[in-house]
Amino acid sequence: MTTLTVALPGREYDILIQRGLLSQAGERVRAVLPKARKLAVVTDSHVEPLYSAPVLDSLSATGFDCRLFVVPAGEESKNPSQLVRLWEGFMDFGLTRTDGVAALGGGVVGDLAGFAAATILRGVPFVQIPTTLLSQVDSSVGGKTAIDLKAGKNLAGVFCQPKLVLMDPETLDTLPLPVFMDGMAEVVKYGCIWDEDFFHFLAGRPSRQALMADIEHILYTCCDIKRKVVMEDELDTGLRMILNFGHTLGHAYELAGHYVEWTHGQAVAAGMCAAARLGARLGTPPEVPEQIEAALSALGLPTRISCSKSDYAAAVGLDKKGAGADIALILLDQMGHASPHKLPKAELLKRLEALQ
Ligand code: GLY
Repeated sequence: MTTLTVALPGREYDILIQRGLLSQAGERVRAVLPKARKLAVVTDSHVEPLYSAPVLDSLSATGFDCRLFVVPAGEESKNPSQLVRLWEGFMDFGLTRTDGVAALGGGVVGDLAGFAAATILRGVPFVQIPTTLLSQVDSSVGGKTAIDLKAGKNLAGVFCQPKLVLMDPETLDTLPLPVFMDGMAEVVKYGCIWDEDFFHFLAGRPSRQALMADIEHILYTCCDIKRKVVMEDELDTGLRMILNFGHTLGHAYELAGHYVEWTHGQAVAAGMCAAARLGARLGTPPEVPEQIEAALSALGLPTRISCSKSDYAAAVGLDKKGAGADIALILLDQMGHASPHKLPKAELLKRLEALQ
């Protein structure tokens, strides 16, 4: 088994990566919640039939009294009414602050269950058991929890670190190919922003089969980078912003497709390509945009998405009070190294229009 430690003072936790780890969930969770009697296990309607039985069996075998909470699969579940449903359900179950919550599923389940746990009774410990590539390499690590509001995604939330992250790469075998590749956009992002060798390693594995043959190394490398970034900037006021490479423009593409035409990963893939092309006039070496486009298109991810000026304006915040202010856009100084570049929003908009 591979173990990475997120060493935050007073909030230290391990990320465990191993095939077959779901069936050891009980002993692993027991080790971090030695006194807990009850465990609320939150999952979604896709994951429940696939993985809840082995996880619940293992948890029950180590003495946890478990209750399963199933939310409908999909982003729509990250909403205030599902949050209240979980809070009420936790209280009906008799959860106390010495008990725990386990989030079993992808990013939606992790964000929602994490937020519910962090806010019920002013904080009940929780563990993340991510089952998608996107949640394994990104959302389960780092303590961001949230729900969506009408005004936008992830607008209500808190930073609250989990007690443990359990990652079983075998859960990736049941992901539909587009969902797997969605996660690959974030994986490629880590190569772009932090590790040139890792980028080229990924570019040499342009199929799911080739990637799965090295999946432990891939998960380890991504989580190691994320762990280092989070340890330096837990609350997202500095270095952590580099994790947003491709995300500002990706947000514009998500808006352009009304959140249905393009998945998050597809929008981020096109957003990274646009940021690299735009960066080529601001210091990104000229070969970098082509390298990123080649790696992403080999994985079947889009490298260009058309987008209206108003969607770009909304994504960079030019439609709101911030008009005229600067934006910190994450650009690549070289392959494997990212940093924020301050630009007036109006100038960014002009540059983006010129790229179309
Ligand atoms: N997903 C970006 C972050 O955790 O900061």
